[in-house]
Amino acid sequence: MDFFTYRDRELYCEDVPVARLAAEFGTPLWIYSARTILHHYQQLRSAFAEADPLVCYSVKANGNLAILRLMTERGAGFDVVSGGELYRVLVAGGDPQRTVFAGVGKTPEEIRYALEKDVLLLEVESEEEAEEIARQAELLGSPARIALRVNPDVDPRTHRYITTGKKETKFGMDLERAAALADRLQRVAAVRIEGVHMHIGSQITEPKVYGTAAERVADFALRLKDAGHPIAWFNTGGGFGIHYRGREGRPAKEFAEQILPHVARTGCRLLLEPGRYIVGNAGILVSRVLYRKVAGDRRFLIQDAAMNDLMRPALYQAFHRIWPVTVPEGLPAPPDDYEQAIPGTEPWDVVGPVCESGDFFALERPLPQLENGALLAVFSAGAYGMSMSSNYNARPRAAEVLVAGSRYWLVRRRETYEDLVGPELAVGARDVDVRLEPH
Ligand code: LLP
Repeated sequence: MDFFTYRDRELYCEDVPVARLAAEFGTPLWIYSARTILHHYQQLRSAFAEADPLVCYSVKANGNLAILRLMTERGAGFDVVSGGELYRVLVAGGDPQRTVFAGVGKTPEEIRYALEKDVLLLEVESEEEAEEIARQAELLGSPARIALRVNPDVDPRTHRYITTGKKETKFGMDLERAAALADRLQRVAAVRIEGVHMHIGSQITEPKVYGTAAERVADFALRLKDAGHPIAWFNTGGGFGIHYRGREGRPAKEFAEQILPHVARTGCRLLLEPGRYIVGNAGILVSRVLYRKVAGDRRFLIQDAAMNDLMRPALYQAFHRIWPVTVPEGLPAPPDDYEQAIPGTEPWDVVGPVCESGDFFALERPLPQLENGALLAVFSAGAYGMSMSSNYNARPRAAEVLVAGSRYWLVRRRETYEDLVGPELAVGARDVDVRLEPH
């Protein structure tokens, strides 16, 4: 479900023509639909309503301040994995007491920062990290609230790079180790275990795996409760899949049906950490065709967005629908079914200007004949798009626009060449005079 629609063969984001935004702000351009974001947020809240969930939006999916602001105004909390993300939340006006902090490698400085800001829970991923948290809490003189992140050892059957809940992963602890740690922490006054946490992976389209995982983690929570730990929160993580190719995402209700009975058993309050489900389908990346080129039997559509903007195809061979912003006469809106031949199209490799063969958005993708200068929309790019972008090849990062109804705001200006060199000029890199010492 999203609010990107074609009217008279022109793509609109809500009530704003995408071509108008591209003309005003240039390309490549990220465009987000506020209504789509809120629709998904609301869907989650109602699907899980009986557990009165705290929805902690996962900042890593898309940390734009305007989006964080939108979420915080609707009562959302946040899931952060770094001091930088916590800082973003605070700048956006987010509530640290509705913010949870995960991540396998929190530095002592980050732990201290989170404790000083009094975040709701630090999610502990290893025994040694628990010790460090206890140390920092002691220094600050007030106990730390923590949740133990456990691996329920399920295979969510998603891409191996985004599988996190199996036994042999760097994330969390297996149930036995976590139980042993909980026993030990009973004697440590500087930490209080107030929650259990799982996050089994991302882009999960099989709701059942949540049932299996939540059952194991619920048993674990009850065990800790029996041992006297004040477990108040059951955090089932994020990971709900969305539509990339067709209609593969599952409605929130189906995930809720799997999760809710186990949460109810524990008497805990439910905490969710969705990222992609909220913003994934709410964003597109708009690019402009620069050149067309034939090489052997391949046809390349070279456009001005690249892997530094949207890394997912290069990194995970991820599929994103791509379709012209202005659809040539006689062609449909973007296809939902790529298994069928699409009349009026030819296969194109959609590539960017970066100097890597892996710099493609799609290979042999059916697309209509397009002129140079045509605009392309890359769909389902709201999550892990801009947040994973880089300046590789010294490409300034693209601008971001947020649309709500017929109104829109530039929410991040396009980076400039000056932005690229600023941190180096700030320390005089240009003036460093290297003379090698004789050896
Ligand atoms: N909670 C934790 C502890 C996480 O590690 C993640 C994502 C989330 C919540 C949010 O997951 P979501 O609801 O968005 O699936 N870059 C990859 C996805 C990496 C996900 C990392 N962790 C991609 O583009 O597919």
